Amino acid sequence: MSLLDEIKAKAAKLKKTIVLCEGEDKRVVEAAAQITKEGIAKIVLIGNEAECKKVAPDVDLTGITLVDPLTSDKTTAYADMLYEARKAKGMTEEQARAQAKDRTMFGALMLKAGDVDGYVSGACHSTANTLRPGLQVVKTAPGIKTVSSCFLMIAPEKHEYNPDGVAVFADCAINIEPTAEQLADIAVSSAKTAKAIAGIEPRVAMLSFSTKGSGNDDKFTQTVPKVQRATALAKEMAPDLALDGEFQFDAAVAPEVGQLKAPGSKVAGNANVFVFPNINAGNIGYKIAQRFGGYMAIGPVCQGFAKPLNDLSRGCSVEDIVATVAVTALQAE
Ligand SMILES: CC(C)(COP(=O)(O)OP(=O)(O)OC[C@H]1O[C@@H](n2cnc3c(N)ncnc32)[C@H](O)[C@@H]1OP(=O)(O)O)[C@@H](O)C(=O)NCCC(=O)NCCS
Repeated sequence: MSLLDEIKAKAAKLKKTIVLCEGEDKRVVEAAAQITKEGIAKIVLIGNEAECKKVAPDVDLTGITLVDPLTSDKTTAYADMLYEARKAKGMTEEQARAQAKDRTMFGALMLKAGDVDGYVSGACHSTANTLRPGLQVVKTAPGIKTVSSCFLMIAPEKHEYNPDGVAVFADCAINIEPTAEQLADIAVSSAKTAKAIAGIEPRVAMLSFSTKGSGNDDKFTQTVPKVQRATALAKEMAPDLALDGEFQFDAAVAPEVGQLKAPGSKVAGNANVFVFPNINAGNIGYKIAQRFGGYMAIGPVCQGFAKPLNDLSRGCSVEDIVATVAVTALQAE
């Protein structure tokens, strides 16, 4: 069974309720029907029947709960909740009443209220517009200040440098130039995702162009000391986690290089979770693995929220939406 099939099968057992915010999108309506038919999750679809029928006339909506923020009897209570959450930031009651009718905000408020277990959106909204409601009202998990993302990288076949057949790469999509504190949060959240979604025992490598002080960029970006500080902070946050750095990629995955450059490290040479120093490195890195290495990338999986929210790519397929809902259900466990 592929990892994706395992994730769907695990999700089906959990019977979580996930809100899909974009009932105006044909792919989302089709995915909602497929998820319901396969029993992967219970779906709340934000939209109304006439609109869903217009974009996807042949789709059977049986078993899907449709909710329209313009007519829902929950909208007023959600507006009150939004006002309470944002009044200190200057939001007025009138603004809260208007914003609660926005579909992505309505979905985030459903999640905050506990009326659903997870949130998936982004098929027709940008990353910022998809995540902002979650950042504003759902906020971060205890002990974590940074929402981040990772990709589950599935190998075309098992390899001596990736015996698990799967790796986690972070952060390739949200935090552009993370601080040491944010990198530490990304590392701890990625380890949690690796265990919960990829089903692997995490061994986290904090990546750089330097291994244990071999390189120096003091005159330039000062990335090496940042990664060193992040490594120390992450070790303090999660003392039982197998985590080490800073490592070049080969020192992180190749036992012979790891032993040479970082003797005694439990992570060097056998890492399976890779924390990149910034979004440039992470985004380029996962695309190299995808295009040159034939890896399949599942994600970005958002992590660090108090409750699970995930962002779809605007180019997503129906299958991508189904997979993202299954991942979200596992995060809700
Ligand atoms: C995450 C992101 C979407 C947030 O953008 P934004 O909405 O402009 O964020 P803002 O700076 O307005 O912040 C909104 C709130 O979220 C919080 N926030 C922003 N980023 C956060 C993060 N990574 N973790 C936790 N909180 C965050 C802010 O503190 C702020 O909270 P407040 O309003 O309660 O004070 C932004 O970092 C981004 O655009 N990242 C790159 C995304 C991208 O282009 N990816 C490429 C795809 S491959």
